Amino acid sequence: MAEPEAIAVDPDTYALESTYWPDDWQSETTSIGSSIYRGLIENGRRYQALRNEEYLIPADDAQFEAYEAGHLVALILESSHGNPFFRSPVSSPEHILDIGTGKGTWAIDVADMFPNATVRGVDLFPPPVSWVPPNCVLEVDDIQQDWTWHEKFDLIHMRIMLGSFAEGEWDRVYKQCYDNLKPGGWIEQLEVSPVIQTDDGSLPPDNILNDWGPNVLACGERAGRSVNTFDQMTKRIQSAGFTNVHEKLYKWPIGPWPRDKELKEAGMVNHQHWSSGLEGWGMWLLTKFGAPHPWSQEEVQVYCARLRNELMNPRFHVWHRGRRVWAQKPLDGSPTRTNK
Ligand SMILES: C[S@@+](CC[C@H](N)C(=O)[O-])C[C@H]1O[C@@H](n2cnc3c(N)ncnc32)[C@H](O)[C@@H]1O
Repeated sequence: MAEPEAIAVDPDTYALESTYWPDDWQSETTSIGSSIYRGLIENGRRYQALRNEEYLIPADDAQFEAYEAGHLVALILESSHGNPFFRSPVSSPEHILDIGTGKGTWAIDVADMFPNATVRGVDLFPPPVSWVPPNCVLEVDDIQQDWTWHEKFDLIHMRIMLGSFAEGEWDRVYKQCYDNLKPGGWIEQLEVSPVIQTDDGSLPPDNILNDWGPNVLACGERAGRSVNTFDQMTKRIQSAGFTNVHEKLYKWPIGPWPRDKELKEAGMVNHQHWSSGLEGWGMWLLTKFGAPHPWSQEEVQVYCARLRNELMNPRFHVWHRGRRVWAQKPLDGSPTRTNK
C-alpha cells in the first residue's frame, strides 16, 4: 500500500504566529433528565452511564464538538471522491449501520445521501440531535450485547473507535458485524493514530507534542484498551473472515500549514478537532493509568493546555496518520471463523 507523499508547506502560514481559530462553534444541550442522558460526571467531564465497563472518552459538548470536526476532516480528505462518506462499493443499500455513531453526523449525512436506505446509528450515549431524516434511526445501546436487529446490513461502518474495546471485545464486534451483514456486504472502518509526526523535522525532538502519542498509547496498554486500533484493525478484520480487503492511508495535517488547498482546509479543521478533543482523549487514560502514577485532573489540564499551545505554532508542520479499511463478507456467506 502506497505511503502518502510528504505534505508541501505553505510559506505564508509563517505570518500566522497567533491564534488561527476562533472558538465559535455552537454547542449542543439537552434537557432530558434520565440517568442515561445525565451520564456520570468525573473530573469535570460527562461520561456514558449505560455500560458497566467504563468508556474512556467523555460524552459532552466539548467532545461532540471534536466529533463534528473529525467528521469534517474525514470528508475534506475524501472530497475528490464522489462519495466522501465511505469507499465500500455499495451503490443502492437498504440497510446501513454506524457503530459508535457519536453525534450521529455520519449516519445523518449517509441517510440524506441514500433516502431509500435505513441508516441506523448506535451509541452508548444518546446523540445530541433534535432532528434526523426519516430514514435515519439513532439508538442507544451497547454494541457488545447480542444484536437484536432483524435486518441484515449492506454496510457496517465504524470511525474513530480507538480504545473502545478490549482485545476479545474487538473480535466479538467483528464477528457480530460478519454475522449481521448480507453475503457480499461490506465492513468499513476509519481510524487515526494519536502519534504526531512531521515530514521535515520541523518539530524539535524535545517538544511535548512528541510525547502525546507514546504517552496515551502506553496508558491504553496499561488500561487493557489499546488505542493502537489504527495498526490492529486490518488484521482483525481479516481474521474475522472478511475478504477483498482494501486500505487507504492518510496524513491528517494539524493546522493550516500545508500548501495544498484541500490539505490546508483539512489542517484547519483538524486543529479544531485536536483543540476541542485533547482533554477528553487524555483525561480518563491519564487520571487512571498515567505514569509514573495516575495524574490529577489539574495535571491533565495543564498538560493539554501546553499541547494546545504548541499546536498553535504554524512552524510545526505536524500531522498524524489515518487509515481506512474496507472489506467484504464472502458472497457465499461462509460462517465466521474462530479467532485465535
Ligand atoms: C471517539 S467516538 C467517535 C464517534 C463517531 N464514530 C465519529 O467518528 O464522530 C467513539 C464512540 O463510540 C461509542 N462507543 C464506545 N463503546 C461503545 C459500545 N460498546 N457500544 C456502542 N457505542 C460505543 C462512544 O460512546 C463514542 O461515542
